[in-house]
Amino acid sequence: MAQPRRPLIAGNWKMNGLAKAGLALARDIAARRAAADPGCDIVLCPPATLVRAVAEAVAGSVIAVGGQDCHAQPSGAHTGDIAAPMLADAGCRYVILGHSERRQDHDESSEQVKAKVEAALAAGLIAILCVGESAAERDAGVALGVVARQLGASLPAMARPDRVAVAYEPVWAIGTGRTPTLPEIQEMHAHLRDLLSRAMPGGEATRILYGGSVKPGNARPILGQPDVDGALVGGASLKAEDFWAIVQSCR
Ligand code: PGA
Repeated sequence: MAQPRRPLIAGNWKMNGLAKAGLALARDIAARRAAADPGCDIVLCPPATLVRAVAEAVAGSVIAVGGQDCHAQPSGAHTGDIAAPMLADAGCRYVILGHSERRQDHDESSEQVKAKVEAALAAGLIAILCVGESAAERDAGVALGVVARQLGASLPAMARPDRVAVAYEPVWAIGTGRTPTLPEIQEMHAHLRDLLSRAMPGGEATRILYGGSVKPGNARPILGQPDVDGALVGGASLKAEDFWAIVQSCR
């Protein structure tokens, strides 16, 4: 029988967190994790300014640290950008790529996201690749096709199920308090699993996270869907109590 997929809960702090509060949050999560194994993997994705300090704060725990983006090149004349080897050097094991806020704010195309995933994998990082439809696309009934196209264009041939996680994040659910229905979430995740199984050897073992307004109050039923292997959590990852409640909803 195939190994069960161990859930992954990722906290995406986005552009939030000065050192004092950010490190207190990381230490709080690490202390809770030290007291009990919730049965899932945990990764904290602070802003780049805090990556190294958060990695040091959780050192010795099994909590991993991730970046929120990286450049497609390993080094060079790209003022303000951060390369994947720099994230790895600062203590990251993961990096979020293709988040809809990057696709919107920085006009990132799926082709650019693919190059970033390749750079991340080359640097030994695990990529959390985000896909998701807009409200208009959901309303028009084309969400499955849109997400399939995004995945197809963003997933490089070198991807492997233990080096990539996919996060399904409907754009209209991010930071809005709205979520798809449970059957809609399960339908999309099953669709993604089918696509992943055909995209790479053993691809059905890829962890597929749900993201968009995950809170302590809705985490358990969402994480209980058969093809949901974790969550990418934004707002609720900024409060240790809320984030930990979501982590504990994996069981
Ligand atoms: P949210 O963000 O949990 O605040 O909706 C999720 C995300 O953007 O990853």
